[in-house]
Amino acid sequence: MYNVRKINDDIYYLGANDRRIALFENVYPVPEGMSYNNYLIKDEKTCLMDGIDESVSRQFLENLTYALEGRKLDYMVVQHMEPDHCSVIPDLFKMYPEMKIVSSVQAFKMMENFYHIDTKDRSIVIKEGDTLSLGKHELHFISAPMVHWPEVMMTYESTTGTLFSADAFGAFGAMSGNIFADEVRWDHDWRDEARRYYVNIVGKYGPQTQAVLKKASTLDIKMICPLHAHIWRKDFEQILSRYHQWSTYEPQRYSVAIFYGSIYGNTQNAAEILAMKLAEEGMRSVMVFDTSKTDTSELVSRAFQYSTLVFASATYNAEVFDSMQNLLTELKNHNLSNRTIGLVENGSWAPMAANKMKAQLASMKNMKIVDPIVKIQSSVSEENLKQLEVLAKELAANTK
Ligand code: FEO
Repeated sequence: MYNVRKINDDIYYLGANDRRIALFENVYPVPEGMSYNNYLIKDEKTCLMDGIDESVSRQFLENLTYALEGRKLDYMVVQHMEPDHCSVIPDLFKMYPEMKIVSSVQAFKMMENFYHIDTKDRSIVIKEGDTLSLGKHELHFISAPMVHWPEVMMTYESTTGTLFSADAFGAFGAMSGNIFADEVRWDHDWRDEARRYYVNIVGKYGPQTQAVLKKASTLDIKMICPLHAHIWRKDFEQILSRYHQWSTYEPQRYSVAIFYGSIYGNTQNAAEILAMKLAEEGMRSVMVFDTSKTDTSELVSRAFQYSTLVFASATYNAEVFDSMQNLLTELKNHNLSNRTIGLVENGSWAPMAANKMKAQLASMKNMKIVDPIVKIQSSVSEENLKQLEVLAKELAANTK
């Protein structure tokens, strides 16, 4: 049965939730599920803003049929050609033979590659600055490359001041009826998942996100409608300022996050001791993570959040311990920069982890390693205790 909500005079939310999904993009755990949004504008012309994921396509098609109230669908704007928003294009193509698809040239190429449909006579190719009138409503197209794919366009509807923002400003997690950010405790319940979503999906492309924020700052925005999670109709600064921080790799919390990779618990012991000493130095909200236990997407998200990061790793096969290596690779892949770093290594016969970690951090931008680098041989010694105490003092002094 249909499940539609009117969000503006002529704009309807048609989205749906997948609560069974385990891994978004088959990579990121989503224990609270995933929401997929799209919108219908009903004017002299009817216009669907994006499609939906295959997993919830049945719900979407019922919603669309209901919301159209027997009218034909004139346009489908495809802002982003990732399949989590596009699986229904072939169905809609058949269901609405008069429907024109409005999208970027790159997206049409992808559409052909994904779905092998011939859109030639039913395509309207748009680029930055183009407009499309629906009657009372007018769509203005804005190019947003790499937020999240190269073909992405955003759309500003100037009559209502609605920005259809594609993947930007979304979050992991299914919604529960409250589809507006002001209907939930966003900062308390959703901010961390919004950061984990942004950082892992788009985090690599900070400058491109900055470019989009600059374009958005010139618009008179009354509502932001993303393709995932909540619609914003007030307190825009809350989400825009977060995106500014995340896309400039600016930490939100000036404190220490300790990541350890430990085989028998001795490297963990050093991490726990360091955390306690940091607390004694007055550091607050220190966090300790086991890289083997916590999902990498969460670790990357926390690394974006914290100003000061400690990597404590066992040596394994003369390399950095596997789960720590995975984390470092992901941090580099996501362009993390501008952090203060502490290092701890462990090795029973040939400790190698610190040098290997140092080499990787050197390939990242502006990572400042603080001395001393603590070298453990099997388990924490009295000498290591003193080194950890000095490291705690240095990290605290370098964490403003
Ligand atoms: Fe929600 Fe990049 O797709």
